Amino acid sequence: MDFELKTLDLAAAANEKTDVLVVLVPEGFKGGKDPVSRLVAAALQARDLEAKPGKLLHAYRAEGIAAPRVIMAGAGDGSGKRLHAAVQAAAGAIRSSTARKLTILLPAGSGPDAVRAAVCGAAESSYVYVATKSRPEARELKTVVVGAADAGSHRAAFQRARAAAVGIEFARELGNLPPNYATPTRLGEEAAKLAKAHALKVEVLGPKEVARIGMGSFLGVAKGSAEPLRFIVLRHEGAGKGDAPIVLVGKGITFDTGGISIKPSAEMDEMKYDMGGAASVLGTFRALAELKPKLNVIGLIPSCENMPDGASYKPGDILTSLSGQTIEVLNTDAEGRLILCDALTYAERFKPRAVIDVATLTGACVVALGGVRSGLFATDDALADQLLAAGEAALDPCWRLPLDDEYAEGLKSNFADVANVAGRAGGAVVAAKFLHRFTQNYPWAHLDIAGTAWKGGAAKGATGRPVGLLLEFLLAQESVAGPRASAAPAGKTKTKTKTGAAGKAKPPATRRKARAAS
Ligand code: BES
Ligand code: MN
Ligand code: ZN
Repeated sequence: MDFELKTLDLAAAANEKTDVLVVLVPEGFKGGKDPVSRLVAAALQARDLEAKPGKLLHAYRAEGIAAPRVIMAGAGDGSGKRLHAAVQAAAGAIRSSTARKLTILLPAGSGPDAVRAAVCGAAESSYVYVATKSRPEARELKTVVVGAADAGSHRAAFQRARAAAVGIEFARELGNLPPNYATPTRLGEEAAKLAKAHALKVEVLGPKEVARIGMGSFLGVAKGSAEPLRFIVLRHEGAGKGDAPIVLVGKGITFDTGGISIKPSAEMDEMKYDMGGAASVLGTFRALAELKPKLNVIGLIPSCENMPDGASYKPGDILTSLSGQTIEVLNTDAEGRLILCDALTYAERFKPRAVIDVATLTGACVVALGGVRSGLFATDDALADQLLAAGEAALDPCWRLPLDDEYAEGLKSNFADVANVAGRAGGAVVAAKFLHRFTQNYPWAHLDIAGTAWKGGAAKGATGRPVGLLLEFLLAQESVAGPRASAAPAGKTKTKTKTGAAGKAKPPATRRKARAAS
């Protein structure tokens, strides 16, 4: 799908050659004497149209208007959120029509938020999954034109919005692929393809290399699957070598049966989305490839299946993580934290400015926050605030949850340094506290996207979240980028491994001793 930004106002919109013209109508709408303004004013006057968000009125072959179809869409207070809802409703209404070109006219005086709302709303509502249908009915829509009176001032916002839409859709498509298609191997191939097409750097490691590095926790989870694991290292190098990178870590469980602690059958199919974190990291890199910001960003994706098998890891097993800490497995369904902890330790070698992991980690987070906001945990207030702000701006919001040490009480083990589960209470926080033990050497944030990465019900499918949030966060960092020393707090153990030595062996002797974090 192509996007265009065009100078257009109400008067000019009447002559616009397009299949469908969407006129966004905020409260207090003021038009002129042109055909489009008159149509909207008459509809408002007759109360056949309301400026409430989500309200639509269709007109066909209206007098003096070139577009055969006009959709007037109530846009409430005209905020980004309302405009997004209006565009979603309008684009959704023509989903099954033959319209190939859609023109969205923004209200006069709209800001950059409106441009994003139009681009992302239209992309989102027109998306059609076809990858595994034998007679696919593909998306008819080919071109979305965003019309604004002052188009010239919206160039940058438009480019960003388009990149976000492309990245979100990439993540969504990967998330929707069935688990027998979206295997760890396939995710590795997608990362390699992405890197090749956009001059990103990539390494895709397999079981042997991961064993040599010493990721015993990740290896433990992967043991029960016939699909070989993959560890993906992606790099966008947009800034100088001395510029500390931001590391994104994505949970890439391509199917989570629960393993020996097997899940109930109902809705188990949805566990194909357990690679939503990985998909969002790949989607973010897809967007970075479009925009090429002056930033260094590294993506780490541990990917495997969680399966029951004669070779599976079991409750009671003790795994030795890359950090040296030993872990008692009390529930094989708490596998996300076990693959993430090794990736989080691996992240240290990049001396990162910040590390953000993204994971469909806990059902408890779905209970706490539902599908509206992702759970946010952070050891650094500035980082947390930046992520919260990025979420609001991108209409991909999150909500901060605590990291008090008391939440880690239940993770004590008689046989290892830490157990992988505690009781049911505060499950999302407990999972975050487990990860916290592996993130002592850099500012860290964790996004639990179990509730936001996909939707159930009739609209069942991946959402592409939180690509919008991550991209917004990263682009805001571009302005503050610059050479910086390691973000590791003074006095803390530094990793000896050389930066960039991805895949290089880290002999057990140099591994840090097991240590308690709190
Ligand atoms: N992938 C699940 C979390 C999940 C649950 C995501 C529901 C989306 C929807 C994760 O691996 C898991 O199974 N977590 C367990 C942890 C428990 C065993 C401590 C959970 O949430 O039940
Ligand atoms: Mn699980
Ligand atoms: Zn899982």
